[in-house]
Amino acid sequence: MNIRHCARALPLALAFIALSCGTGAPSGGGKVPANAAYRNPSLDVEARVADLLKRMTLDEKIGQMTQIEKGSLRGGDVASLYLGSVLSGGGGSPNPNTPASWADMVDRFQDEALSTRLGIPMLYGVDSVHGHNNLKDATVFPHNIGLGAANDPELVRAVGAATARETLATGIPWTFAPCVAVARDPRWGRTYESFSQDPSLVTALGAAFIAGYQGADPSVGAAAGTGARPIATAKHFLGDGAARWGTSTTGTYKIDQGDAAGDEAYLRTVLLPPYAEAVKAGVKTVMVSFSSWNGLKMHAQKALVTDLLKGELGFAGFVVSDWAGMDQIDGDYYKAMVTGINAGVDMNMVPYDGRKFIDTVKKAVDAKDISMARIDDAVARILRVKFEMGLFESPKANRALASTIRSPEHLELARKAAAESQVILKNEATGTSGGVLPLSPSAKLYVAGSAADNIGIQCGGWTMEWQGKSGNITAGTTILAGIREAAGADRVVFEPWAKFAETDRKAVCVVVVGERPYAEGMGDSASISLNAGDIGTIERARESFDRVVLVLLSGRPLILEEAALSCDAIVASWLPGTEGSGVADVLFGKVAPKGRLPFDWPVSTEQLPVDNFVSGNQKPLWPFGYGLSW
Ligand code: BGC
Ligand code: BGC
Repeated sequence: MNIRHCARALPLALAFIALSCGTGAPSGGGKVPANAAYRNPSLDVEARVADLLKRMTLDEKIGQMTQIEKGSLRGGDVASLYLGSVLSGGGGSPNPNTPASWADMVDRFQDEALSTRLGIPMLYGVDSVHGHNNLKDATVFPHNIGLGAANDPELVRAVGAATARETLATGIPWTFAPCVAVARDPRWGRTYESFSQDPSLVTALGAAFIAGYQGADPSVGAAAGTGARPIATAKHFLGDGAARWGTSTTGTYKIDQGDAAGDEAYLRTVLLPPYAEAVKAGVKTVMVSFSSWNGLKMHAQKALVTDLLKGELGFAGFVVSDWAGMDQIDGDYYKAMVTGINAGVDMNMVPYDGRKFIDTVKKAVDAKDISMARIDDAVARILRVKFEMGLFESPKANRALASTIRSPEHLELARKAAAESQVILKNEATGTSGGVLPLSPSAKLYVAGSAADNIGIQCGGWTMEWQGKSGNITAGTTILAGIREAAGADRVVFEPWAKFAETDRKAVCVVVVGERPYAEGMGDSASISLNAGDIGTIERARESFDRVVLVLLSGRPLILEEAALSCDAIVASWLPGTEGSGVADVLFGKVAPKGRLPFDWPVSTEQLPVDNFVSGNQKPLWPFGYGLSW
């Protein structure tokens, strides 16, 4: 910028600042004219980025690189720290948990951001990983493992778009999804966040979600052309799903955040493809994994984050850390931040102490441990995304979209997704040659199981709370309600523990049991099995009825006991979300079963990890791709 242009762009009283403009130093402190180039939407994005970047002070730049959890913010922090981003962690909802109070909360943060000298809008992010799952009474879709079973990119694209609409309606354009982990060990507590053990399936569905989410029309229901465009996150780069059992050093975790080991070929053929495709699909952000690759924390892996992702794959968006993920690089906080930022992390997700991070980075820049070029690159990437989204032009909540939350269209889509994700593992009938499924809608039916009438269990983790929660936590149709709707309530007898007052041997009993909700390393499990209470229910049902249908709600394949294996029919329902009627649609034959296993189903945990099936060293109970039809 030349001095003349610079001086004209600033008020006369600040001419002394203008003098420094030509030297490339930031103007710092002064007001910026309304016609500054970066504010002009008709200029191209790179010109706007360059114009804004050169006006920014170091504090303003580091602020852009900082994302703080909303629960840790005091009034005024967004403005005084020049924050680039705010997030809601799992369960980080406002009170009351309504669309309007979400939108009011986000808009309040936004007003603070817009009140700053440069008026750079903040970007709000949340884990909408199966619908806007922190918002009470949102549409909750099946977790990714179910979508992997359905293996229908068009469906996933539609789920992405619907999720974007419900999230945008509450003022939030940014989701930390899709998780494109290629999970290789179902003992991992995040297996359900993975579409599949198979890289090509993950690749196709991850890209479909990104296209759907980022392609959702933000002006639906609003004036044409309004609304920031929503953005997605491919996570967790790289190898989160390949960590080995027993390698985690986080608290009581066993595998989550642990170490994935392998050679370059394994990295390139199994772990990397979903990212290559995500970049091609135009994903705007990538989140780094807590895990390590060959012993080095991913947040410190410059060769992978900078050279491979940004360099070789040409990723032009920005890289966000995971939740205090850089802190794990080193016990020394200064060293950890320097290493992480120099490795290529552009925005730090800081759950608690944003000031500590900001002061540390300032020190590191002063000491030249982090170069100005690296800071400018990080900030340019963040600003580029904000400009591309139209956030400067539409920073506020798109409230007109509120009518899409739990709309009939979204519920229909969630029901369809639940139905398509069902995998029929077994379908016989004691004493006959046919299968017990599909059920007759006109016969008397017994239903049992602790998960039959439980929205929280069928949604799993990352629903209302970080860990999810058993019970009546949000609006939806339980599987029992779906069955009653299909069969007529008067024909259905329900007893959660299968302690029926009277039974009819000739009738069918459907037992719905499964895992209690969990998320991340809290779900790491050595045994991945049903609990004793649920096994007892299956045994009682077996004793009382000739024909028993077992419906399994789980975030992964479970090791099945004799009682479970002896059921006439077994359905892997995964975590179908709020629309249990979709499960009933398959049980009653309204929708033909088309789900196929996205994971090899182990006989025992000794067979794990999945690599043993892939290499042929172990034979699964049911192989990847298996699923019956009728
Ligand atoms: C998880 C991420 C998530 C983030 C924010 C982390 O603990 O690993 O997947 O996006 O928290 O909730
Ligand atoms: C947050 C999650 C986050 C987790 C990480 C929780 O308190 O709600 O979003 O992923 O902490 O440990």
